[in-house]
Amino acid sequence: MDASVASPGYLSISGVGKTFGSGASQTEALGEIDLAVRGGEFLAIVGPSGCGKSTLLQIAAGLALPTRGLVQFNGQTVTAPPSGIVYLFQQYGKSLFPWRTVLDNVAFAVEHRPGMSRAAARDASRAYLDMVGLADFAGHYPAQLSGGMQQRVTIARALAAQPRVLLMDEPFSSVDALTRLELHAIVQDLWQKHGFTAVLVTHDADEAVFLADRIAVLSARPSRVVRVLETGLPRPRDRLETPELPRYLALRHELLAMLLGKGA
Ligand SMILES: Nc1ncnc2c1ncn2[C@@H]1O[C@H](COP(=O)(O)OP(=O)(O)O)[C@@H](O)[C@H]1O
Ligand SMILES: [Mg+2]
Repeated sequence: MDASVASPGYLSISGVGKTFGSGASQTEALGEIDLAVRGGEFLAIVGPSGCGKSTLLQIAAGLALPTRGLVQFNGQTVTAPPSGIVYLFQQYGKSLFPWRTVLDNVAFAVEHRPGMSRAAARDASRAYLDMVGLADFAGHYPAQLSGGMQQRVTIARALAAQPRVLLMDEPFSSVDALTRLELHAIVQDLWQKHGFTAVLVTHDADEAVFLADRIAVLSARPSRVVRVLETGLPRPRDRLETPELPRYLALRHELLAMLLGKGA
């Protein structure tokens, strides 16, 4: 086995299939997915709408069980949400507690740790708010923030949980285009600093090429992995410069052609 696959934070998805319902109303979402997520890498998963990307991520997080195959995290079979894996939902608005301040939303991820006082939890949380540029909004409530700021709070809370693996299901799709570019830079920066394994589901070819080390392309239902692209772009990637590199443009072209069904 390749060393990076056996390093902490690796996830192995072997022969995973998922069929919903039974009889005539049966939907075969995931056909057979094989994917080895290397410890510390940034992996993007792209594929057509309805091909089972969210289903796959939920199975990887232990939030749903596969019909066939298995997921292993650090060598243990995943049957329930393992500690060390954090899942970032697309619906940031619904995942924050409206009655808690921004700081206390982040503190929620740390205050249940054994031996952690409320004051220590708040101190730790301030550091994470600072990392996402929201130090000045600690006392605000979620409803007082823009969508992009709320999503930054959920990112701070996810990081405060000190994940080995951060699973993200289209986390940037409902913020405006400029905010999305800012969030890309923030996530890349935090991933480089903290060294967690990142898995990002997206339907945005630019986002996948900009952020990922590797991009797994899924087919339509019942889905399987049709290609894994290595991006090989230098880091840190710059939101202005990187998209002008010939390699970036070639990858984006290849990926879009696959998503549009035009071959590569
Ligand atoms: N709980 C469920 N019950 C029945 N069908 C489902 C359920 N969840 C997802 N599906 C179906 O499985 C397929 C894949 O869904 P999903 O994982 O949400 O796709 P994606 O995230 O790629 O858009 C879709 O056809 C969807 O309708
Ligand atoms: Mg989805």
